[in-house]
Amino acid sequence: MSLSLIGRNVGESVTLKMNETFAILKAKGEPVIHLGGGEPKSRAPLDAITSIASHLNSGEVRYAPADGTVDMKKAVIRFTRDTYNRTVEPSNVLVSSGAKQAIMVALQAILDPQDEVIFPAPYWVSYPDMVKLCGAIPVPVVPEDGTFTPTMKDITQNVSAYTKAIIINSPNNPSGVVYPPDFIREIVEFAEQKGLYLIMDDIYNKLVFDGVPLANPFDYVKDFSDNSKLIIINGVSKAYAMTGFRIGWAIGNKHLIKAMSNIQGHQTSGTSILLQKAAIGAINGVQNVVNSLKTTLENNKRVLVRQLKAFDGVHLIEPQGAFYTFADFSAYEKDSRKLSNFLLEKVRVLTVPGAEFGFEGHLRISFCGGIKDINQGIERIKWAIDPNSPNELYIGERKLVRDWN
Ligand SMILES: Cc1ncc(COP(=O)(O)O)c(C=O)c1O
Repeated sequence: MSLSLIGRNVGESVTLKMNETFAILKAKGEPVIHLGGGEPKSRAPLDAITSIASHLNSGEVRYAPADGTVDMKKAVIRFTRDTYNRTVEPSNVLVSSGAKQAIMVALQAILDPQDEVIFPAPYWVSYPDMVKLCGAIPVPVVPEDGTFTPTMKDITQNVSAYTKAIIINSPNNPSGVVYPPDFIREIVEFAEQKGLYLIMDDIYNKLVFDGVPLANPFDYVKDFSDNSKLIIINGVSKAYAMTGFRIGWAIGNKHLIKAMSNIQGHQTSGTSILLQKAAIGAINGVQNVVNSLKTTLENNKRVLVRQLKAFDGVHLIEPQGAFYTFADFSAYEKDSRKLSNFLLEKVRVLTVPGAEFGFEGHLRISFCGGIKDINQGIERIKWAIDPNSPNELYIGERKLVRDWN
C-alpha cells in the first residue's frame, strides 16, 4: 500500500491502545487490572452534567466558533486569572478538543519541516509523534544526573540553529515530578531571550501533592504582548475527571491564536458546543471537586509508593503530582516492553513500558484507579517477577502456576 511519509512513520498512541486491550480482556471476563491508566475514576462534576444537560434539552446543537464560544472563553479567562493571576483577552484563548489538540495545532502553527523541538525525558508519549506530524524533529533530553528533573545545562546543550520550541510538562507524565521554580524561571527567561517558543503543558497543575511549590510561568515572563512566544496549555480532562469530554485550551499571543484557530477551523471546526457547556459548568461550578480528587489521589499515591518502596530492587523517585509513579525495574528486566508484556500475559496487569516515554528499564504505574486494584496489581507483579515467590497464586477462583524463573 502506498502511504505518505507521515502515514508510515507515525506510531499508534500506546496509552490509547492499552485502554483498548483492557476493554477487550475485560469483555472476555479476564481478571485484568489496569495500572496503566491516564484518567481519574471519579464522576464528572455535577455542575458539568447539569450544564450540558440543559443545553441538550434545548435541542439546539449547532456549529461552535472555531476558537471557542464566548462563554467558554470567559470561563478560560477566569480559570487563567484564578490559576496564574493573569488576565488575558478572548483573543489570547483557543478552545480545542482536548489539551492534545491544543498542543497539536500550536505545533502546526509554529513548526516548519526540519525545525527541532526540545523536551525533557521522560516525556508524554505523544510529543515525539506530534512533532513528527509537522515534519519536524523531536529532540528528547535525558537529564544527565540520572533524575527526572532537567537542568538548564541539559536543555542548552541541545539547542541548535534549528531549535524552534521547547515543551515543558510539570507535574510530569510519567514521572509525577514537579520541576523546581528556579528551573521554570530560568527556562522562561532563556526561551524569551533566545526567541524560542515555550509550550508549558500544565494539564496536571491542579494535582500537586503535599504542598510542593509549583511555579507560575507568568511570574517570570517579561513580555506577554503580541510577540510573546509563551504558550500555556490546560484543560478539564485531569483535574475535573472529564477526559471523555475532550475540552482543552491554549493561551498565547493573539496572532498565534488566530493562526491556530484557522488551522483548527479546517481540521475539526469548533469543539462541540455541548462539551464546551460541560466545561463551563465545571470551571464556574463548585471547585471542591478538584480538592476531593486531589485528596483521593494523594491517598492512593501513599499506598502505591509504600508498596513500591517495599519492593526489593525497585528504585522509585516519589511523585509530587499527577497520578503516576515511574519506577525503575531494570534490576529485574532492562527491556521495559518485554517486562510490561510479560506482566500482562502472566498476571493480567497492565503497565506502560518506560521505553514509550523515552526512558528504558522503567514502568509507569498509575494511581488514578482504586486502592484495591493498586494492592492486588502490585501483589501480582511481585509474585510474577520475584524468583523467591511461592509457586502458585490465586486470582479469585483462578490458580496461576509459575512456569518461568
Ligand atoms: C502530559 C499530557 N498532556 C496532554 C494530555 C492530553 O489531555 P487531553 O485529554 O485534554 O487531550 C495528556 C493526557 O494524557 C497528558 O498526559
